[in-house]
Amino acid sequence: MASLSLLLPIVLVSFTATATQPPKTLHIPVIHRHAVFPPQPRATQTQLGSLLRHRRRAARYNAQLGSFHSAAAAEDDGDDRLRSPVLSGLPFESGEYFAIISVGHPSTRALVVIDTGSDLIWLQCKPCRHCYPQLTGLYDPANSSTYRQIPCASPRCRDVLRYPGCDARTGGCQYTLVYGDGSASRGDLATDRLVFPNDTHAHNVTLGCGHDNEGLFESAAGLLGVGRGKLSFPTQLAPAYGHVFSYCLGDRMSRAQNGSSYLVFGRTPELPSTVFTPLRRNPRRPSLYYVDMLGFSVGGERVAGFSNASLALDPATGRGGVVVDSGTAISRLPRDAYAAVRDAFNSHAAEGGMRKLAKNFSVFDACYALRGNGAATVRVPSIVLHFAGGADMALPPANYLIPVEGGDRRTYFCLGLQAADDDLNVLGNVQQQGFGVVFDVERARIGFAANGCSG
Ligand SMILES: *[C@@H]1O[C@H](CO)[C@@H](O)[C@H](O)[C@H]1NC(C)=O
Ligand SMILES: *[C@@H]1O[C@H](CO)[C@@H](O)[C@H](O)[C@H]1NC(C)=O
Ligand SMILES: *[C@@H]1O[C@H](CO)[C@@H](O)[C@H](O)[C@H]1NC(C)=O
Ligand SMILES: *[C@@H]1O[C@H](CO)[C@@H](O)[C@H](O)[C@H]1NC(C)=O
Ligand SMILES: *[C@@H]1O[C@H](CO)[C@@H](O)[C@H](O)[C@H]1NC(C)=O
Ligand SMILES: *[C@@H]1O[C@H](CO)[C@@H](O)[C@H](O)[C@H]1NC(C)=O
Repeated sequence: MASLSLLLPIVLVSFTATATQPPKTLHIPVIHRHAVFPPQPRATQTQLGSLLRHRRRAARYNAQLGSFHSAAAAEDDGDDRLRSPVLSGLPFESGEYFAIISVGHPSTRALVVIDTGSDLIWLQCKPCRHCYPQLTGLYDPANSSTYRQIPCASPRCRDVLRYPGCDARTGGCQYTLVYGDGSASRGDLATDRLVFPNDTHAHNVTLGCGHDNEGLFESAAGLLGVGRGKLSFPTQLAPAYGHVFSYCLGDRMSRAQNGSSYLVFGRTPELPSTVFTPLRRNPRRPSLYYVDMLGFSVGGERVAGFSNASLALDPATGRGGVVVDSGTAISRLPRDAYAAVRDAFNSHAAEGGMRKLAKNFSVFDACYALRGNGAATVRVPSIVLHFAGGADMALPPANYLIPVEGGDRRTYFCLGLQAADDDLNVLGNVQQQGFGVVFDVERARIGFAANGCSG
């Protein structure tokens, strides 16, 4: 076993001479895909299938999903409080939040999907054996004077990649990443510099130069892996900024997306509303951020009737717990927990005057017309997630009511949670919308702050 320092990517961060004091935080601009793909004003096609995508596990749902049309039915007046956040038909994609980075020297701008569920930073890279279309210019390592391929013999190649390959011709280290949904990237493991606002440079960042890419990263230049493994961006930056970062994923339904989302590396002042829960580590999935949940409250009442043991990680078996993930849209709960939450929601929704539909929309089996039968207003049941350590996350309705178009040009809303068909329970980005989320590996905790985007 080589010494630890050989295993860890070493990244040197430099700042321009004009900066008298190096900033202790690195701010990376984040945009929602609507900033680059403006939503159509009406009847936008929503593929519920893409909402249900789950990157690390093949979503066998996809095959059986029809495509539904979403929302955009402004004539359907629901509860006024819900109207602006929910009633606009916008596409759902799991890779919704892009970070803007620049790579190389001279640098090329790239929009990359922010993914807490994986480690490696990779970019589509010339020459392409296969590249899908992307919005920004392709990264060409031949044009970057700071690009270096990592040799197969390097400890970085042997020890940080689980299944490294070697290019016999060049002696360069090769990586292959296959995501659960069939997306993949293959190419050379390399280092180059990354460039951020305020002339901040990170030198010799280990990244994948992907010559053969396919899958569901539509239009992104690649992926920014912000998992907790050795190759991840926050781990590589930790010597300069500490092993802590935070983000806020802005309201997906808002058309004024810019400025609300953020991604910051380093410790920032805590928002007063932040609640913390212990960060757990699963030895079998070392890249993922696990937390323990205790349960749920719906309509102000604690949900009973399921075993909450499976919401807590058992490190011995690697089972249970809940993964905080930016790359999965809809949260996934153990089957019995999902059923208990749904039943509680249905019962409180009925009391609140919401009219339940008989039909299901794909995996969503609690769908409602918000306009009650003759009733002027309906009351939507509240949902609170209870995490270990007393951290409660009270979800705004837009974080659990998913608009769908019922085929009759009316908008309905489905409870936006689903049962996990495997043992991977996930807190998805729909439920995280608008919360400041702090991934504090240094202090082994994760924080949630309501209304965290505005701060
Ligand atoms: C750049 O630096 C200025 C002055 O320190 C700071 O106010 C600003 O927030 C920084 N911008 C980014 C994107 O970090
Ligand atoms: C959001 O920001 C992007 C990139 O800076 C810009 O191209 C776009 O016009 C902005 N959109 C809005 C609605 O401000
Ligand atoms: C590579 O560099 C050359 C010379 O500077 C330039 O003309 C060309 O556009 C660059 N290619 C890319 C993809 O940036
Ligand atoms: C990056 O690494 C190369 C060799 O691997 C080294 O020569 C160079 O000085 C490093 N750059 C910086 C800025 O540290
Ligand atoms: C289950 O929930 C109860 C209270 O609701 C809590 O006291 C207990 O610690 C939870 N069990 C686990 C394993 O989290
Ligand atoms: C909706 O799904 C549930 C299972 O979640 C099932 O019991 C029910 O029969 C389905 N309803 C329809 C109309 O298919």
